Amino acid sequence: MSRPANAAPVVRNVDARHRYEILVDGERAGLTAYRDRGDQRVFFHTEIDDAYAGQGLASILVEQALTDVRAAGLRIVPVCPYVAGFLTRHQEFADITDPVTEEITTWLDARLGR
Ligand SMILES: CC(C)(COP(=O)(O)OP(=O)(O)OC[C@H]1O[C@@H](n2cnc3c(N)ncnc32)[C@H](O)[C@@H]1OP(=O)(O)O)[C@@H](O)C(=O)NCCC(=O)NCCS
Repeated sequence: MSRPANAAPVVRNVDARHRYEILVDGERAGLTAYRDRGDQRVFFHTEIDDAYAGQGLASILVEQALTDVRAAGLRIVPVCPYVAGFLTRHQEFADITDPVTEEITTWLDARLGR
């Protein structure tokens, strides 16, 4: 039996690679990457493959990722401009969002070797 067309996208946390991925019909369509700093999950990059752009997938991905952060009892730090923009449109995550500080960006750069 073939898979139904237009099945809902699936978001999964690939903890070992520090990122959430979004799958469309089983194919990876994009990701949002993070590093953990104590109880803070610092998001620094989101990308959707060109073939899947403009379908609202980044929004689905980030919404489910941030919901997972809440479920895990962690907090959000939006270094990624897309996540920062999403949070301005979705105030329901304001209570678990921390500001991006110079200390965090310095820590992140060291973690990423840049
Ligand atoms: C940004 C990106 C992830 C959006 O993916 P998408 O699935 O097409 O996005 P959606 O359809 O869910 O949302 C589109 C929204 O993203 C916003 N957006 C697009 N590029 C953005 C960027 N660089 N920074 C912040 N927000 C951005 C737009 O404002 C748009 O909002 P609107 O619907 O109010 O106009 C994708 O274009 C991409 O991978 N770009 C290259 C990498 C990148 O620039 N990443 C963001 C910074 S880390």
